[in-house]
Amino acid sequence: AVTSPALKAAYHFRPPNNWINDPNGPLYYKGYYHLFYQYNPKDAVWGNIVWAHSVSKDLINWIALKPAIEPSKPFDQYGCWSGSATILLDGTPAILYTGIIAKNDTDPNNILWTQVQNVAYPKNLSDPFLEEWDKPDYNPVIPIGPGVNGTAFRDPTTAWYSPEDKHWRVVVGSKWDLKGQALLYRSKDFKKWVKASHTLHATRGTGMWECPDFYPVSVKGLLGLDTSVKGKGVKHVLKVSLDLDRYEYYTIGTYDITRDRYTPDGTSKDNKHGLRYDYGNFYASKTFYDPEKKRRILWGWANETDTVPEDKNKRWAGVQLIPRTVWLDPSGKQLLQWPVEELNSLRGKQVSVTSKKVKPGDHLEVGGIQTAQADVEVTFDVSSLSNAEPFDPKYMYDAQAFCKIKGADVKGGVGPFGLYVLATADLQEKTAVFFRVFKSEDKHVVLMCNDPTQSTLAPSLAENKYKPTFAGYVDVDLTKSSSISLKTLLDHSVVESFGAGGKTVISSRVYPTLAQGDNARLFIFNNGAVDIKVTKLDAWELKKPLMNIGA
Ligand code: FRU
Repeated sequence: AVTSPALKAAYHFRPPNNWINDPNGPLYYKGYYHLFYQYNPKDAVWGNIVWAHSVSKDLINWIALKPAIEPSKPFDQYGCWSGSATILLDGTPAILYTGIIAKNDTDPNNILWTQVQNVAYPKNLSDPFLEEWDKPDYNPVIPIGPGVNGTAFRDPTTAWYSPEDKHWRVVVGSKWDLKGQALLYRSKDFKKWVKASHTLHATRGTGMWECPDFYPVSVKGLLGLDTSVKGKGVKHVLKVSLDLDRYEYYTIGTYDITRDRYTPDGTSKDNKHGLRYDYGNFYASKTFYDPEKKRRILWGWANETDTVPEDKNKRWAGVQLIPRTVWLDPSGKQLLQWPVEELNSLRGKQVSVTSKKVKPGDHLEVGGIQTAQADVEVTFDVSSLSNAEPFDPKYMYDAQAFCKIKGADVKGGVGPFGLYVLATADLQEKTAVFFRVFKSEDKHVVLMCNDPTQSTLAPSLAENKYKPTFAGYVDVDLTKSSSISLKTLLDHSVVESFGAGGKTVISSRVYPTLAQGDNARLFIFNNGAVDIKVTKLDAWELKKPLMNIGA
């Protein structure tokens, strides 16, 4: 039952079949958004990796094109791995990607892939679809140099340009022993790249830095910046995907252009590695600057959390989460994220609830629309904080472990309150997305959770094979404003939630056996000891966009 076709994500980006992983080289060109992604043309498991390619006018409706970059040359014959696009000074898009030049599989548990960086250019600049790509024979443009670990050397970023010295700069992810590294290269012509004598940034004990991303954010306002912007009124963000724990971390900091070094601010840490874009299933993300709407857009990949035989049987695996606009919170301490506004074009039938009290132990159904494929926005008002449970500082850097013991059914003081989504009428199956407020010495701590422990009755998953509870803290002061918002996007097997206007985001994959299609229900619940008020709830059915039907 887990493999039911009813669980196919409808509006999250994916090809009709097969395996996908990282989003690659997003770019905007001549009226079209382009998304490339790691794709196995033959199976629903990782392997045979090419750059699949789709285009869209609105980031929501997608047309599938043929793969843009496939293994064909000595410099990429074993795979075309992740990379990024850069728009050059004359408007030409260039792609830098990782080519696999050798494979040592003597140890099947630890296959060693030898990696170099290649460039590719569109063959026909007047084609807005950029269907044909040329990989010049002078590749690789960044071979493995001295002091570089050639089996941990991949995922080049978008390059940035300094008019002062007329050089492009790019970062390639790497490690040396367990020290994660952002290797820095410079080039005048995008062809000959010279390694800087030091890294842009490196951190001991973090392991391989996959899919680094480095970009400027404006200290004020929502507008995004082109990757080359630097100077006054600008902070920089460095994000890495840690192979070690399969989570991503970012810091906000300062880019010193004269020393060519990035230094994270001390403020951006809620655990030892930094902050998270998403405290759930979200990896290998990448941003790009959208010159059309002057915003920076973030794409991230969510893998399946069912079993490999189930993926093979259903013949697809992985989605890209809804592209999100990212900008700096006015506090300067974290980023904010929100689904691109174009998503609203899918909204259909709507229901609303206003000014509704939810008593301790209550759950109220929000009926009238189907909610297996829906957008839910709700604002809660918590007026009485005196009942908040005491916070255990031991969990200060581990919200996830905290939520594991403080799940949706564990009665609390202020909360848990929130939504049951993809739920059956009798709540046998349900995924809970909720808040819970704690009192610590000088302030209140707000925990946001995604509890999937009762999301499915499928025997293959019921015994908690891999149904991780996900959680993050929300940096709000409920004594100043007693309201807190939640937006949850539901797409059959995808639950993507934005807390407090995009301060804390959690995505997860769930596989209900009964709570599918019209049987998937939505509830508001409160398992705390005090009343909670729903100031306003709006829920919309979302239509199915054009999703990677052929050109
Ligand atoms: C991250 C990653 C990248 C690599 C690609 C291969 O998910 O491992 O480091 O380039 O996937 O598909």
